Amino acid sequence: MSSESLVGIIGGSGLYSFFADDAPRRTVDTPFGAPSDDIVLGEIGGRQVAFLPRHGRGHRYPPHRINYRANLWALRSLGVRQVLAPSAVGSLQRQLGPGTFVVPDQVVDRTWGRAHTVYDDPGPVVHVAFADPYCPLGRTALLQGAEGVPNPCVDGGTLVVINGPRFSSRAESRWHQQAGWSVVGMTGMPEASIARELALCYSAICLVTDLDAGLEQDQGVTHQEVMAAFERNLEQVRAIISAAVPALPTTESPSCSCRQALDGLTLPFDLP
Ligand code: ADE
Repeated sequence: MSSESLVGIIGGSGLYSFFADDAPRRTVDTPFGAPSDDIVLGEIGGRQVAFLPRHGRGHRYPPHRINYRANLWALRSLGVRQVLAPSAVGSLQRQLGPGTFVVPDQVVDRTWGRAHTVYDDPGPVVHVAFADPYCPLGRTALLQGAEGVPNPCVDGGTLVVINGPRFSSRAESRWHQQAGWSVVGMTGMPEASIARELALCYSAICLVTDLDAGLEQDQGVTHQEVMAAFERNLEQVRAIISAAVPALPTTESPSCSCRQALDGLTLPFDLP
């Protein structure tokens, strides 16, 4: 990894900006169309950073309509090689209460109908390994960043990604819980796997905003509850990201193979 590479931050629900309003911004086009918004450039702890709000400013794109391919392609085309991805999630385990951060080490993809691969056309077929979906170095940096905030932060766990935009029924939620999964969200996939297809280091940090329907006795989770909980913890999310960015290595390390994801494969096109 060259020391000039940028760190990408994909801001989730409630995190629509990271830098001053007059920070430089880039409108990027990609072979997959436009990303969710302009990408805003800034610096954190000496690292150049590219910030993209996942849902667009004003939360325009629901999870199933986000152009994940364009978002990651656009970040890569600006020189991003490491991505940190905060998001709001529901808890599937009672001990993970609202306000808890989880840095997952596994993911289950229950989404459907989303453009989920950049290697979609007939031609050389590309299968990337995805046994370990998240960059170990990004995870370490996020966990280290979380040491500076009062909220508990859990190292590891499985994020199950549902299609949304509705929340889970109680039965679906109990099923996810009984499978032993930790948290449930709507945006973690195919974001993580497309990042791998583009040989990007990608790691997620999930903020628990609610107890999912299977744990909750009342009417179940609401959008207002999720947004209010994210708002209450926004400063902690920012603090973790701000501490994690400078903790990311600037050179390639043998303990991370994300950037070798495409080695030995014949690609149908050059990556940006
Ligand atoms: N995002 C935040 N809370 C959620 C939940 N309970 N289910 C799915 N996505 C969520």
